[in-house]
Amino acid sequence: MRAFILSTFFCVAVFADDAKIPDDIWAKRGEYVSQFIEEDAYGVQIGVGDGAFSYHYLFQMNPKKLCLVDPWQYGLQKELEKEYTREKQQAKDWHHQNVRKFFEPHTNVSVIRLDSKTAIHFFQKNTLDFLYLDGVHYYEDVLQDLMLYFPKLKEGGYIIGNAYDWPGVESAVRDFLSQNPDCRFVETGVNHFVLEKIE
Ligand SMILES: C[S@@+](CC[C@H](N)C(=O)[O-])C[C@H]1O[C@@H](n2cnc3c(N)ncnc32)[C@H](O)[C@@H]1O
Repeated sequence: MRAFILSTFFCVAVFADDAKIPDDIWAKRGEYVSQFIEEDAYGVQIGVGDGAFSYHYLFQMNPKKLCLVDPWQYGLQKELEKEYTREKQQAKDWHHQNVRKFFEPHTNVSVIRLDSKTAIHFFQKNTLDFLYLDGVHYYEDVLQDLMLYFPKLKEGGYIIGNAYDWPGVESAVRDFLSQNPDCRFVETGVNHFVLEKIE
């Protein structure tokens, strides 16, 4: 609820700026995810898109550090992003420019234009409070991101992942859990899954 009120308030300021973050149409999702994120946290978002979710929710939690990772490259989500054209890539470039420009004054936010696998080297083991996972929703990609980023979480840290209704996402989560006894399945809600790193 707090995040919702804040986001409504900050929206006015955002639209007065040169770089614009679109209005948020994902209030339910944002309120759900915000429960797992404390103030002053260190977190990573994989899959940023237009930056609306990053701004309206993750940023409103006053993170100590928030890293936004996205290659902004057209065609990665093969079923949804067909027939590459220059205009479609330009739309991705525009999202990246907008997100970068908007967050530039905020020193607690880093915008990393890389795929999640390449960006992994930016993060140290046992340091992250949360990972928000919303990149490509195929089995191999989700499993890869879980395997790469789980060791970077602190004990008690959360992975909150979107698109749990995609069959690849659910299977990747199941297979990951079966191989990682130090990972606890917390719950699902609002089409998300939540995992916690335990002892
Ligand atoms: C479903 S959109 C989600 C965007 C944002 N979270 C939202 O809710 O609007 C998926 C995003 O993941 C990005 N993406 C695809 N593959 C990625 C990867 N390997 N690492 C990071 N981001 C990736 C895409 O460029 C796209 O912006």
